[in-house]
Amino acid sequence: MNSSAAAALFLFFLLSANPFTNGSPVFDTDGDELLPGVQYYIRSAMPGAGGVGLGLESLFAGGIRCPKFVAQSQSINGLPVTFRPANTSAATVSLSTDVNIEFPGFDAYCRSSNTWRVSLFEPLPGVWWVANGGERGNPGPQTLFNWFKIEQTEGWGYKLVFCPSVCESCVTLCNDVGRIYYETRFLLGLTKGAPWPFVFVKHLQPQGVKKVVQKQSG
Ligand SMILES: *[C@@H]1O[C@H](CO)[C@@H](O)[C@H](O)[C@H]1NC(C)=O
Repeated sequence: MNSSAAAALFLFFLLSANPFTNGSPVFDTDGDELLPGVQYYIRSAMPGAGGVGLGLESLFAGGIRCPKFVAQSQSINGLPVTFRPANTSAATVSLSTDVNIEFPGFDAYCRSSNTWRVSLFEPLPGVWWVANGGERGNPGPQTLFNWFKIEQTEGWGYKLVFCPSVCESCVTLCNDVGRIYYETRFLLGLTKGAPWPFVFVKHLQPQGVKKVVQKQSG
């Protein structure tokens, strides 16, 4: 390795060890800080809440083929997500900062991204729903509806909020992400003061954690 590469590497480690991120850390269920680009399951923090992970569902019943909606999954884990902070140099995911949330891969059926966004979708009831098809990165007014934040709840776990700071001149919208029942399933949508509490579980989790979860849900 030449000396400039070594210097770059050293600088990289300095930056990644920088504790002065712009907010308090968010922790996963192992007590480790939440990291950008790493896969986690978002699970209900409420024990015995039925299917506790999140997945993507088409709402054929509502006459909508695409996009797909973020829904409570029937399986324990559902799909993993990755968090991508608006601040691309952030080494960790901090509380109260703008992040994109993404399910893995690309939705070939809808020909869209699996990045979360909020929107109204007629003819569904007038709720702002969380769906796929958002845009990653590029913070600003044109991507306002693609940014979420993680906040502490009063009880156990965290909540997701839609309260973007990526656009200073935009009207400040702040709502909790909650669970709204629609035609046989729970979908994520914006609510006032009724957040659904979550915990973040590493996708590659130790065997012990799996056993505890299976016990609780069995
Ligand atoms: C982005 O993250 C870096 C690294 O944590 C931090 O030093 C910087 O202040 C952050 N920028 C903003 C605008 O918050």
